[in-house]
Amino acid sequence: MNTRMRRAAVAIAAGAMAVSLAACGSAKESSDNKDSDSAAKKGDDIKVGLLLPENQTARYEKFDKPMIEKKVKELTNNKGEVVYANAKQDASLQNQQVDTMVTNKVDVLILDAVDYKAIAGSVKKAKDAGIKVVAFDRLAEGPIDAYTSFDNVTVGKTQGEALLKALGDKAKDSQVVMMNGSSTDPNAAQFKEGAHSALDGKVKVGREYDTKEWKPENANANMEGAISALGKDKIAGVYSANDGMAGGIITALKAAGIADIPVTGQDAELAGVQRIVTGEQYMSVFKSYPKEAEVAAEMAVKLAKGESLDSIANDKVDSESAKGVPAVIVPVVSLTKDNIKETVIKDGFYTIDEICAGKYKAACDKIGLK
Ligand code: BGC
Repeated sequence: MNTRMRRAAVAIAAGAMAVSLAACGSAKESSDNKDSDSAAKKGDDIKVGLLLPENQTARYEKFDKPMIEKKVKELTNNKGEVVYANAKQDASLQNQQVDTMVTNKVDVLILDAVDYKAIAGSVKKAKDAGIKVVAFDRLAEGPIDAYTSFDNVTVGKTQGEALLKALGDKAKDSQVVMMNGSSTDPNAAQFKEGAHSALDGKVKVGREYDTKEWKPENANANMEGAISALGKDKIAGVYSANDGMAGGIITALKAAGIADIPVTGQDAELAGVQRIVTGEQYMSVFKSYPKEAEVAAEMAVKLAKGESLDSIANDKVDSESAKGVPAVIVPVVSLTKDNIKETVIKDGFYTIDEICAGKYKAACDKIGLK
């Protein structure tokens, strides 16, 4: 942390000198200075391509995008630029977006893949064009140069354990429904693996689904299917891989007149936290988006400048097609009504006023959130 802050300070100081030099040259633009100056300065006006997979889940445009942009600016004395594209769950659109960025000669890519296998060809094209790729949150296949994410098996385990805890003694005689994420997302497989490691042998899984494109409406439809197949009195809880889907699931439960059963989630979305306050959702998983964004930006800037990742990447991971990829894996925290203040409030995700606005005020009062 300290080393990083020191580096940032040095970078800022170097950048400040560059600014004053440019000012002396009056009309002369920084591109002139660029040729005659050091590698560090050349590195400061880098272009980072940022590719996010969808925009229905709130985290991407509320947290990830602005946080990465801010950090890139910070690390490049405001000279770095982020070029952004959101694939809206369309894998072939994302391939085109990567290809366009390669054609437009960005210096480095931060890529959160819609479909981790389908993107491999575009990752290879970037590599062939000398553009390094940071796999962000999801481990894309192809010749990536770095990876940062959360401990995704632990995310699933945390969700599964929380569901068991909520069921208590009832667990052994009851059944749950499992709503996993999209099969094109490698994280979804890890969440599922972690959840099964907690649930298997402890509670019966009555029905299980992989949810196409992580869409809340698909989770809603699958939940309706599970309710009619199993019977509305036969479902004791629902494992939902994220908050967006939990929203769709809870709508289906309510429509069937099922109340007070635990539903899990992930992402600490505002709507998810509000449902935790009202008791409609049992838990979410709090992930430090600032930390993940900071690491991604640092990796990208270093790679663009041709610097080593040794000082930040304390881990290595293997994908199916790349071995020993430098990585940083960020830990996660289970979020329930008991630690809202210590998590999303403390880290500045939301204020109490935001969470407890309007109709949530009474529920907040009831759990002592003020
Ligand atoms: C992310 C989750 C997100 C999900 C749906 C996963 O890869 O890790 O935070 O809820 O995708 O976009």
